[in-house]
Amino acid sequence: MKKIKLAIIGCGAVAEVFHIPTLQRMPEFEIVALVDANEERAKELKNKYSLNCETFSDYKKVLSKDIDAVFILTPPKFHSQIAIECAEAGKHIFCEKPMETSLEKAKDMVEASEKAGVKLMVGLNFRFIPQFKKVHELIEKGFLGHLIGASSTFFTNASVWPSKSKFQYSREGGGALFEMGCHHMDLIRWYLGDIRNVFGNIKTLNKDITIDDTANVYMEFKNGAAANLAVVWGDLSINEIRVYGDGGFIYANGSKNEVLFTPKGVVAQAPIRIKADKKISAYHEEFRHFFECIMEDRTPVVNGTEGYKTLESTLAAYESYEKGIFVEVTKK
Ligand SMILES: NC(=O)c1ccc[n+]([C@@H]2O[C@H](COP(=O)([O-])OP(=O)(O)OC[C@H]3O[C@@H](n4cnc5c(N)ncnc54)[C@H](O)[C@@H]3O)[C@@H](O)[C@H]2O)c1
Repeated sequence: MKKIKLAIIGCGAVAEVFHIPTLQRMPEFEIVALVDANEERAKELKNKYSLNCETFSDYKKVLSKDIDAVFILTPPKFHSQIAIECAEAGKHIFCEKPMETSLEKAKDMVEASEKAGVKLMVGLNFRFIPQFKKVHELIEKGFLGHLIGASSTFFTNASVWPSKSKFQYSREGGGALFEMGCHHMDLIRWYLGDIRNVFGNIKTLNKDITIDDTANVYMEFKNGAAANLAVVWGDLSINEIRVYGDGGFIYANGSKNEVLFTPKGVVAQAPIRIKADKKISAYHEEFRHFFECIMEDRTPVVNGTEGYKTLESTLAAYESYEKGIFVEVTKK
């Protein structure tokens, strides 16, 4: 089997905890370079995982190398610059979420990848969590009938995440909604379609940080459905979503293997428990999908346009809160 030769750009927490150990075990990939602005960090991870690869402090060094793809795992404000140069050098791109910090930069990434004819996949990996993937499958099969709405709750403890740069606590790259809420915003969009407008209520309740840790977002969709999203950085860990239509109701829990379906008309009866496919991990599934898209010339399920739309909806929620009004996301 042909392996995809790749460079990892950004050797921080997510590279160490998820990407390198997952990619290293996959026969589909060969890590040939680790890049970090702090090259000592790249060397540290090379040694930790006993990788036979080069290390660099400047991503430009990999542009001329025999490398098929790059994984961009830096804080978001560096994503577009690196992605555009890598696309121009003919490398396929896997870029972590949030796609960028502005829509203009995200659009430039999409255009550069299209012009160069390379794949651009955004790391909104909740679409690969089996329970959430199952919800999408059931919706596509018509279990819910005409979609009416969704409600999601996503609470995490950001303070335990071992980020090297702590970028998530800065205006440029963070905030609970921007950094974590984008995962659920993306899921809701995947289930219900394009968002017409949003209303955001975005607060900082923890006195030790200056960016948002609590966000409630109300969304109206082009198809008439409505949804709300609650995101909190605190001590609790909750990762749940409910989607309903005129044919039934689905509850999925991203932390437990739990997908419950209640068909229309069922009263006082336990919901039907549906098994989600147990795979190795959502990251493994996500990276496998990226590999298949490259090898089979397919469009990634979270391509640049999808990443752009999720960013657009997320930023619109912040704008809504600043202005105190609904903000239109999609005019068409
Ligand atoms: N999908 C997920 O489950 C998930 C989980 C955690 C983080 N993330 C995303 O991954 C990205 C990285 O997060 P993290 O927590 O690992 O951050 P981090 O701060 O721990 O690491 C970022 C690394 O990038 C390096 N870096 C910064 N600028 C660079 C540049 N121009 N060139 C090369 N290296 C550079 C830094 O030195 C640092 O080592 C973010 O976009 C974050 O939102 C995704």
